[in-house]
Amino acid sequence: MARVVVHADKAAAAQAVAVVIRDLVVAKAKAGQTAVLGLATGSTPLPLYAELIRLHREEGLSFRNVVTFNLDEYEGLSGDHDQSYRYFMEQNLFRSLDIRPENTHVPAGTATDHVRTCADYEASIQAAGGIDLQVLGIGRTGHIGFNEPPSARDSRTRRVHLDEVTRRDNSVFFGDLARVPHGALTMGVGTIMEARQIELLAFGSSKAEIVRRAYCEKPNADCPATWLQLHPACTFHLDPLSDSEL
Ligand code: PGA
Repeated sequence: MARVVVHADKAAAAQAVAVVIRDLVVAKAKAGQTAVLGLATGSTPLPLYAELIRLHREEGLSFRNVVTFNLDEYEGLSGDHDQSYRYFMEQNLFRSLDIRPENTHVPAGTATDHVRTCADYEASIQAAGGIDLQVLGIGRTGHIGFNEPPSARDSRTRRVHLDEVTRRDNSVFFGDLARVPHGALTMGVGTIMEARQIELLAFGSSKAEIVRRAYCEKPNADCPATWLQLHPACTFHLDPLSDSEL
């Protein structure tokens, strides 16, 4: 069962998760090892990324020994498209840290050979030693990454079709629903479940119902976040609003 922590607000949640990441990065550096982080996009992790940048600038936390793998990318968007997740990560995190650019990985949205690109992504995660800590948001469809319903427990990194609820939710960023891609490349549920530790963040009343389903429903493919109940080290970080239906 996932652990649930209800924080006073999203800033407090972001601070708590940033401390967990800091401690991991510092411990790995002391051991002469690399910390492998799985990262997410969307509005939810923004306060976490702001806090990581603060820890870097004000407390000297170095990301030189950190490798990152993002969950997903829109199909057809290149890294310089202002709605691509590569662009999001550069703007909101990477450019403000001392992380080595070659250590940051985001699936290639413009790849033509999806099968090969996704297999290579899985292989790079394996070659890095697997993901130590995965940051997750949750979509109102129950998606983690872009694993829309139905997504099997053992699904791997692949091309997926985006749910219309997700396209509508994300259309605010694109300004127009018609501009939101219909497809994406995403780590699979099985890929995510192999992370040694998972920190899921969900804030606000719009997430209350899906948080309840994710936590209370029997694990099933129609609410992919329910699979997290089967993970041995997964924490849901909530605020009072997203916790309101638990
Ligand atoms: P959000 O997206 O952080 O913008 O709410 C979360 C998600 O879709 O995983």
